[in-house]
Amino acid sequence: MGSSEQGEHAIHMMSTEEERRYPPSAEFAAQANAKADIYERDFDEFWETEGRTRVSWFEPFNKLYEWEMPYSKWYLGGKLNVCYNCVDRHVESGAGDKVAFYWEGELEDTRRTVTYANLQSEVVRFANVLKSLGVKKGTPVAIYLGMIPELPVAMLACARLGAPHCVIFGGFSAEALADRASDFEAEILITQDEGYRRGKPLALKKIADEAAANTPSVQKVLVVSHSGGDVAWNEGTDIRYDDLAKDASSDPASCPCEPMDSEDLLFLMYTSGTTAKPKGIIHTTAGYLVGAATTHYYIFDLKADSDVYFCTADIGWITGHSYILYGPLANQATSVIFEGTPDFPDKDRWWDICERYGVTILYTAPTAIRSHMKWGPEYAQKHDLSKIRLLGSVGEPINPEAWIWYRDHIGGGKAPVVDTWWQTETGSILITPLPGITTLKPGSASKPFPGIDAAVYDESSNEVGPGGGGYLVLRKPWPSMLRGIHNDPNRFLSNYWSLFPGNYAAGDGARIDEDGDFWLLGRVDDVMNVSGHRISTIEIESALVDHPLVAEAAVCGRADEITGQAIVAFVTLKGGAKGSDDVIKELRAHVGKKIGPIARPATVVITQELPKTRSGKIMRRLLRDVAENRALGDTTTLADPNVLAEIQRQAQAK
Ligand code: WT7
Repeated sequence: MGSSEQGEHAIHMMSTEEERRYPPSAEFAAQANAKADIYERDFDEFWETEGRTRVSWFEPFNKLYEWEMPYSKWYLGGKLNVCYNCVDRHVESGAGDKVAFYWEGELEDTRRTVTYANLQSEVVRFANVLKSLGVKKGTPVAIYLGMIPELPVAMLACARLGAPHCVIFGGFSAEALADRASDFEAEILITQDEGYRRGKPLALKKIADEAAANTPSVQKVLVVSHSGGDVAWNEGTDIRYDDLAKDASSDPASCPCEPMDSEDLLFLMYTSGTTAKPKGIIHTTAGYLVGAATTHYYIFDLKADSDVYFCTADIGWITGHSYILYGPLANQATSVIFEGTPDFPDKDRWWDICERYGVTILYTAPTAIRSHMKWGPEYAQKHDLSKIRLLGSVGEPINPEAWIWYRDHIGGGKAPVVDTWWQTETGSILITPLPGITTLKPGSASKPFPGIDAAVYDESSNEVGPGGGGYLVLRKPWPSMLRGIHNDPNRFLSNYWSLFPGNYAAGDGARIDEDGDFWLLGRVDDVMNVSGHRISTIEIESALVDHPLVAEAAVCGRADEITGQAIVAFVTLKGGAKGSDDVIKELRAHVGKKIGPIARPATVVITQELPKTRSGKIMRRLLRDVAENRALGDTTTLADPNVLAEIQRQAQAK
């Protein structure tokens, strides 16, 4: 995979077997949305029935799917609208007064309660504003917003008009934003004056301006007011949302939901791959919505009438798309959307939110759980979390200690924990426990969801039986699977479909135990997972070599107690310069500017040379050994063995 030396990524087996088992309580099982017979359902019947049940169609589909490797189409012939499914139909059926979401601002006491009827008005108004700017079916709209109420509103407004959106996470730099918006050929860029980060304003508009200046396709920048702070204004391009919104109609009849074909583009979501260029993952309308709604219903056991659901992800990532926005709203859930961070103003912020809104289902990431573990359970103990009945985890393998802590301290020692495996590309959860059925094992994502055919293969495409380890593959298409990479069909083919011909290679290692349960082991390619964010080693390397002082760079991950992985960069400077703390500081800042703060290396090691094979390939495997401070693997292909001793000395000096 990638440019790695062959077989460089050995799959490390877990040495100790986790023995703890947690069967569902009889009480939970009796009321669960998914009962044991769900696993007996036939593939076609499952997706056909769910397609008809979870989604309202303007015109029914007449063919379940078509599969021409590597492209699938789902629910062919159907017409529908995602916004109609997430908003209008709930108002029409009389649930207009039901809360769609409680919005909690980062600053205390900035709160809003948004009912489905409110949401409909806001979305229609936003859609009318977009329409007045010329947005129509097919117009690409980029969205660079923090977690403010206008973010879901803007996305739903795009879906209403049939305009594909691309949300770019608010933590990305101007350059990263421009790269993505240009590749998408966005015509409109929606941003806000400022966001907040731990009580301080974050200059989103300023970053958006810099990006827009480098994105020729962008004609208008639509600015939502949030902080009310002063921002620079570009007369020709900038438009204040409030100026247009005050005259825009919020009557749904003024802006009907555009009937979309099942396979029309809904959105792109950029994610890191094994090269410097991020991939624009394509998701279409019907299959994506069915996948998100179906998994959300069964895995989170959603009871629309009584649950309060809180997913702590940012809507700027796929988790937020599928499990804050589209899945929950399609299922008429009541959610919490939180703008801020878990430790501001104090480390009990989430637990305060859970208590105040009566959260019953919480979905978060292992890295966050480990931070809370470090801070101690006393923050959770200050609050009444007794309503929590189900917990979810996503983003990286969860270590059993964090799993148990989560269940004990947040779930009152009884809430089931669903460890959900999926990816930007898969659109929805594919490997997961079902909370009323599965006997849980801390650290295992359990079994493929009904209608999903997952397996573990060895390097020669042989299925690995119970007890074995290898590569996670998907053998059949599924409704919410990616439809390709925007502008790059060859990369789609080579990245996912060439390693195990005919099968989708997820890029993750996995082990399968005697009961057929899956244990995910992390990435097997040049992709790191830092705090649940996917980051490519090569993207960081190319940011580093872009700095005038840098000659060469190699990046790898090392294990980190809190963030899962931390980024280590090995750098050689031009002219063999020695480097200094200031240079290291500057290089870290440079990566932050090129990509975003999440990509800043935790450690920068400046060295005279990098370990290479005789043919000149950087041996990242050995650098990983150095970064992890463990014994070096096979060094026989190394051109100059002395290089490593030097690097080890440098790294240990850190
Ligand atoms: C990668 C996908 C869509 C989820 C958010 C991240 C890792 C995700 C798990 C899990 C073990 C997991 C995988 C995967 N991952 N969930 N429950 N157990 N690993 O989405 O940025 O597309 O990253 O996250 O390595 O390939 P993403």
